[in-house]
This record gives sequence, C-alpha cells and structure tokens, in this order.
Amino acid sequence: MRKAESLEQLIAGWDGVGVVSRFDGESGAWFFVAMHDDSLGRPTGGTRLRRYGSPAEGLLDAMRLAEGMTAKWAVAGVKAGGGKAVLAVPGPLEGEARRGMLRRYGGLVESLRGAFSTGEDLGTTPQDMADIASATRWVLGGRGETVTDPGPFTARGVVGAIRASARHAGLLGGADGDLSGLRVLIQGVGHVGGPLARELAAVGAELVVSDVNRQQLEALAEEIGATTVAPDEVYGTACDIFAPCAIGAVISPQTVPHLACRAVVGSANNQLASDADAGALHDRGILYAPDYVANAGGAIAFAHLAANPNVEDGELFERVGKVETILDEVFTEAAERAESPLVTAQHRVERILADARPG
Ligand code: PHE
Repeated sequence: MRKAESLEQLIAGWDGVGVVSRFDGESGAWFFVAMHDDSLGRPTGGTRLRRYGSPAEGLLDAMRLAEGMTAKWAVAGVKAGGGKAVLAVPGPLEGEARRGMLRRYGGLVESLRGAFSTGEDLGTTPQDMADIASATRWVLGGRGETVTDPGPFTARGVVGAIRASARHAGLLGGADGDLSGLRVLIQGVGHVGGPLARELAAVGAELVVSDVNRQQLEALAEEIGATTVAPDEVYGTACDIFAPCAIGAVISPQTVPHLACRAVVGSANNQLASDADAGALHDRGILYAPDYVANAGGAIAFAHLAANPNVEDGELFERVGKVETILDEVFTEAAERAESPLVTAQHRVERILADARPG
C-alpha cells in the first residue's frame, strides 16, 4: 500500500485532475476533494467522514477512493468521472457542530460550480447528505427534502455479484442463481453489510457476521439468525464467500494465507492493500470480484436517479442488475485468459477511458 508521506509529496506524486483542500478551523476538520479523472464526465463520488492518523492519511484515502470511482463509473457504463471527498475530523462530531461543519463543506462543494458532485459514503448518513445539500446542489440521491440511502442498492448489487461469483466458482448446487445453503461471511454490517445480510438470509444463505460494533452485530445476528465471529477471527473463518463490507486494505500479504473461502466478493472500497494481492488470491484459487464492480450498485442507482428524479425504487433496483451481468463477463474473460479478474476489469477500464479521451 502507498504510504501517506506529506501532503506535498502526495499531491506532487498524483496523476489525478487535482485536489481541493480546506482546513475548517471551527471544527478542526480537514476537507479534501480529490478529482481523479474527468474523461467520462464530472468527477463524482461519495464523501467519507472519519478520523485519520494525519491529514495526509485522509488525503491519500481520498485519492485512492477517487481512483476507484474512475474505474467504477467506467465499468458501469456511466458518464461520470472519478472523484471522492474526505472529511478528516479530529474526533466525534454531533449535533449543531456536525451540521455546521457539513454546511461549510457543502459551501466548498458549491463553490466548485459543478466540478465535483457527491453522495453518501462510509461515516456519512442520509441526514448528513441533506445537511450538505442545504448548501449545494451538487449532491446525488436527493428526493425532495430527503436524501435516499444508497446502501440497499449497493447491497442488491453485491447479491448479484455473489451469484455471479458462486456460479463461476462452481458453488451453486441447485438451480442457477439459488443461493440457499451458501455460507457467506460478512465483515461489517453497517449501511451496506446490514441490508446485504438481510437479503441473503431471506434467500436461505447461511450467514456468519462480524463487526467492531458489538451491539449492532448482536442485534442483526439475532434478527436474521446468523452466527457471529470476533473481528480478529474473520480471516481464518471457513466460508464459501468472504464479503468485506467495511474498511479497505483487508486483503493483504498478512491475510491472504489465512483465508478459508472460495471467493472474495464485497462492498468495501479498495479491498486490496495493493493490486499484487489479486494475484495472490488467483494463485490460491480464490475468485476475486473486483471491488469497484461488485460495489457499483449504489453508484449505478444514484446516477440513474440523478438523471430521472421521479423514478421509483423498483426501477433503480432493476438497474443494479447490471452488476451481475458485468461480473459474469469479467469472470468469463478472466477464465479464458487464465488471469485474475482484476486484470481483466482493469483492461476494460483502460479501454473505455482511452475511447473517451480526445486524440
Ligand atoms: N459512496 C458509494 C460508492 O463508493 C456510493 C455512491 C457513489 C454514492 C457515488 C453517491 C455517489 O460507490
């Protein structure tokens, strides 16, 4: 994984469109808007809110996440560019202090006059997005006064991704698409992992869940009848599908040797500590669904909602079906070439971007 050195080094070493940053003195938060690529359209991506060890770590996260968005929009066939924002807060921020900070961040986004548009991501809620939207029109997911949660759409896409993966890994015993009995381990049961667990439980999958938030975990496990595992036992737990749905960089030289699954398919962004880890999974015979394909459901739904403000959820969920189709194609091509699906997906992204660029 790239190391966060200094802000200067990160900016100097980046090949993206550029970075907008601001220090919010009142809250002590750093705002970073990373715009990676605009070949396909306006840099667009979620706003992540969390604590980091240093401002540079926050900027590095924004940059890597923006790169992921470039790939996500490209494979999904959406005319948007890669961007992401990070609000690196010094500590927990609630109530009026939080709202004020979000409004000031919204003001920064508004000042860009459409150079960047944003939506929900890890650490932000629909209410946060509504607060940001009170200061800028460049927020995706708005419906009247409220902002829709992209989580359930992302989760539906992951279900499709799991179906495609199970099919290609030869894990489906019964009828095509029947996930009953499939053992899925979900790491993180928040905005995406939660709805994902419920959907999979409803179709008869066998669930093992984990989360750093014990209360949230126990409540969900009881609701859907899932087994729980402690966060530090996740990597060695046997399952058919390992679904990382929390933080990034969980697939690394430290964890790959321990994995006891047939496929890695989840919603977390930047699951790999580095691209080489996809090769390590491939060598171990573990199928890897590139994160930016598996987790594109929310982005696909929100792009469609932005263009068609009156569509109903049913149609948005239908659109998300694209994730399974794209992954099927990627897995088929990867198998033909005996390469990691990540390599196949990256070629796709490069082709699409090259076609869109002038000259
Ligand atoms: N933040 C989510 C992602 O990383 C979903 C999202 C994308 C929301 C773009 C709004 C806009 O894909």
